[in-house]
Amino acid sequence: MNAPPLGTLGLPPDAYLDPAVTAKEQARIFRRAWILVALDSELATANDFVTADLGGVPVVVQNLGGEIQAFRNICSHRLARIQCAPRGNRPLTCPYHGWSYGSGGIPTVIPDNRESFGYTDADRAGLALRRVSVARRGGFVFARVAADGPSLEAQLGSDNAALLDHLGTLFDTPFDERRLPWASDWKIGIESVLEVYHVDAVHPETFRPFTQRRWEVAKDGDHSRGKAYLSADSAAWWENVRRRLSLGRSAEFPDYDHWFLWPNVAIGMTDGSLVSVQTYEPTGPQSCDLHFRLALARPTREGGSQAVRRAAQQSLSEFNVRVLEEDRTVSESVQRNHPHAHGPARLGAGETRIVDFHETWRRWMA
Ligand code: FES
Ligand SMILES: [Fe+2]
Repeated sequence: MNAPPLGTLGLPPDAYLDPAVTAKEQARIFRRAWILVALDSELATANDFVTADLGGVPVVVQNLGGEIQAFRNICSHRLARIQCAPRGNRPLTCPYHGWSYGSGGIPTVIPDNRESFGYTDADRAGLALRRVSVARRGGFVFARVAADGPSLEAQLGSDNAALLDHLGTLFDTPFDERRLPWASDWKIGIESVLEVYHVDAVHPETFRPFTQRRWEVAKDGDHSRGKAYLSADSAAWWENVRRRLSLGRSAEFPDYDHWFLWPNVAIGMTDGSLVSVQTYEPTGPQSCDLHFRLALARPTREGGSQAVRRAAQQSLSEFNVRVLEEDRTVSESVQRNHPHAHGPARLGAGETRIVDFHETWRRWMA
């Protein structure tokens, strides 16, 4: 591992505090980059939708007659929010006066059009919702507010694009999906998953016994990855679960592998048979939502006890939430201390992925 030079510092405390920095991040990062907004399984049926805030821009991503399309979530009539829930299934119909939108975001129903407006078909086309770019890879759906920019593949790099394909073929629909509000800047959340130096102190009873101490890291453009080896106890636990649930498994990643995909996605794969996908979504200066999804590998054969499956899923959910609560507690303390800090953080040999994250952040913000 390449240690950062002695005396390497983190970002200035203002980067985690100043609303002007947050506004600039929205413009330079979250409106310019491809952002993970959904999984295919969440948009599988006609009229399934998810909403997202991408750099302050309200976005709706919707299955319209089998095609996934994304728009600014702003009605062309009097600018109301069209889909208000984070996720659901309903037509793309505005709740204010009932304008309804079809493919291309063109209003197909305008109540009392003849009496009230007299719009022709050509007028309607001109009233289409503003498009947001969508790209999918391996069952992961990304959206980008900026009209132009590199392709999703160019942003991800070929290894990560292949990784998403691999995950798409291997994993079932998530058995758990939640948003946990964190009173910390999104970057503090990301930093908490880019090193395992904190594991002994923060997760002595959860994550600590789960892996061996060895941690290998690699940088991959704007992204990075880490690898730990499962402890003998957890390898045995997983072998038992895999057998009882007839779980498939990634032959390539049989231990604990972790990927950070710029700007805000963290993927962890355990035993090649469990995947956790986490996004740290800014909700304001000094706050974010940790949005996680947990999925097991698809079974290799039908049948097996549903009760055993549910019990395993429940214990994995509880373990995950417990670890994340431990991370949240310490991350929120870091946030609270920033206004009073005597200088930036200090970064050591185990924290090179954070140094790389900061380098990428500086470049995108420049
Ligand atoms: S604001 Fe949407 S229909 Fe009136
Ligand atoms: Fe942690």
